[in-house]
Amino acid sequence: MGYGMRVAIVGATGQLGHSLCSAFADWDVTPLGSADCDVADYETVMSTMYACGPDLIVNAGAMTAVDACESEIDRAFAVNAIGPRNLALAANALGADLVHVSSDYVFEGTAGRPYDEWDEPWPLGVYGRSKLGGEREVQTIRPASYVVRTAVLISTQAPNFALSILRAADGDSKLQVVSDQVGSPTYAPHAAAAIRRLAVSGRYGLYHVAGTGSCSRADLARELLGAAGHDASRVEDVTTELMVAAYPAPRPANSALDCRAWRLHGWEPLPTWQEGVRDLLADLARQQPVTPEQPLPNADTARAEPPRVRVSEDLDVTDGSDAPDAPPPRAASPAGREQEPR
Ligand SMILES: NC(=O)c1ccc[n+]([C@@H]2O[C@H](COP(=O)([O-])OP(=O)(O)OC[C@H]3O[C@@H](n4cnc5c(N)ncnc54)[C@H](OP(=O)(O)O)[C@@H]3O)[C@@H](O)[C@H]2O)c1
Repeated sequence: MGYGMRVAIVGATGQLGHSLCSAFADWDVTPLGSADCDVADYETVMSTMYACGPDLIVNAGAMTAVDACESEIDRAFAVNAIGPRNLALAANALGADLVHVSSDYVFEGTAGRPYDEWDEPWPLGVYGRSKLGGEREVQTIRPASYVVRTAVLISTQAPNFALSILRAADGDSKLQVVSDQVGSPTYAPHAAAAIRRLAVSGRYGLYHVAGTGSCSRADLARELLGAAGHDASRVEDVTTELMVAAYPAPRPANSALDCRAWRLHGWEPLPTWQEGVRDLLADLARQQPVTPEQPLPNADTARAEPPRVRVSEDLDVTDGSDAPDAPPPRAASPAGREQEPR
């Protein structure tokens, strides 16, 4: 496989999809967003794939809004489980190879060590259950395929956690970030390069593809701020419990990934998550050169009571003081969980 080959990239408008389009730039790429090909619709998937006739299908499309999945359960399974089923059926019909991207959220997060490909999944929420469903659909319908679990994607493509942190850094607020959720941050171009390598290897199977190492979301925020020349001490550790009203979906406490299968094939590990942060910032600087007119970071840290901004594990930055959908934190109930309307 290689030059002149055709690849259909599903989810091409997302953060990983953008990087995949670049990683396969020397191929004949058909980039597909949800408007081009709704993976939940069998007829659409078949007609789209027959029209573009790919040698390889890469599925980076998903319903990734973890909290919305809790209330839109059918939609989550339609996109994240039936979608991969439809793509596997199309791959079979066309004789195309298939890479399907999954998530560290298939794990419960209580092992106390990084999870490898042979650990038993045990998802906590609807998103994780639907992603595990998608993996199983692909593995059942098209066993000769690549299922790739990645984690905590950061990229130059908004929206994502890293850009939310960097955007918030332009103010003078304290940034409240959860410190009790650990994962393996992965720079999307690093994952895309690894996926490309896998896709031409013929070594089908399940792989973890994530930045080397792991950290909490708060430590990731500190690394981002520090490396970008901001004051990393503006990051304030908060617990998941404090965020549960605004972000109700259960999340694994420690879903760090060990890319054991990748390593055992003799491939060099992916760059560390800190290298991912540096590469992200370098790519951002190339896209948006820093100008003297931009506000300097941390101009007012001497304020006695700086405003606090809560940064969710996924995307959003909410001003904890007045955002209507993010009420100020309250003391946890004796049962350990606040009773908050969704
Ligand atoms: N983000 C993370 O931290 C993370 C962590 C672990 C695993 N993953 C997995 O990595 C993959 C890529 O994630 P990402 O962060 O790049 O996602 P993203 O930025 O949220 O983008 C999601 C992509 O999925 C597409 N999509 C949504 N519904 C679709 C549908 N019904 N049919 C076809 N395409 C649809 C979207 O298309 P439109 O924009 O056109 O609607 C978009 O291109 C996903 O499988 C995700 O589960 C992500």
